[in-house]
Amino acid sequence: MDAAAWDAKYDARELTYGEPPNSTLVDVATALPRGRALDLAAGQGRNALWLATRGWEVTAVDFSAVALTRAHRIASRSPKSVRDRLTYVHADVTTVLPEPEYDLILVLYLHLPHEQRRIVIRNAVAGLKPDGILMILGHHSENISRGVGGPQDPEILYTPEQLASDIGDRAVIHLCEERVRSTNDGIAVDALLLAGRSGLGSGDDRG
Ligand SMILES: C[S@@+](CC[C@H](N)C(=O)[O-])C[C@H]1O[C@@H](n2cnc3c(N)ncnc32)[C@H](O)[C@@H]1O
Repeated sequence: MDAAAWDAKYDARELTYGEPPNSTLVDVATALPRGRALDLAAGQGRNALWLATRGWEVTAVDFSAVALTRAHRIASRSPKSVRDRLTYVHADVTTVLPEPEYDLILVLYLHLPHEQRRIVIRNAVAGLKPDGILMILGHHSENISRGVGGPQDPEILYTPEQLASDIGDRAVIHLCEERVRSTNDGIAVDALLLAGRSGLGSGDDRG
């Protein structure tokens, strides 16, 4: 889906992905010291806002102008101290080349054709500080047969192992597993990967 299609999808429905943060992100980030985060494909900003509320400085990137307008509007209800920690960037994440200054980079429920996914993941790794963490979470390939919701095109779904393969030796894999989530319509199966650059001493691995 291109940016116009995402704009139309957001226009058709308010708060498509809900306002509370993703529960797996809450599990992961609650244990981390606050720092700088980059949320790639941030949508309406639920996760970026939650992180900012917890003291993180967050840059949220999305190519849907409608989603970012909503994100601004939702965040406007928060105290100024929280809003001041949020930066919204209107951009295509396949072209984002972050500097290595992030403690946490999120790629949550971004489903792209494989080659684009590989570029986003490799550029994201390059944006990590030496001890930063990359969190990728999305609908598992088997969600089509075992779960509810999410895209039904197997070409844009993935397994945790495929995410690890996209990263290759660019980062250390901390966690690579399936997560089952309860929704109002039944269970959903997610793929989760946590990775970091620690110990690799790598240079610029972009693209
Ligand atoms: C399923 S939503 C997930 C939003 C958010 N990560 C969350 O978990 O609430 C996917 C988002 O990816 C964005 N997106 C898809 N392809 C993109 C691209 N190439 N560049 C930037 N944003 C993109 C869409 O606009 C949409 O907001």
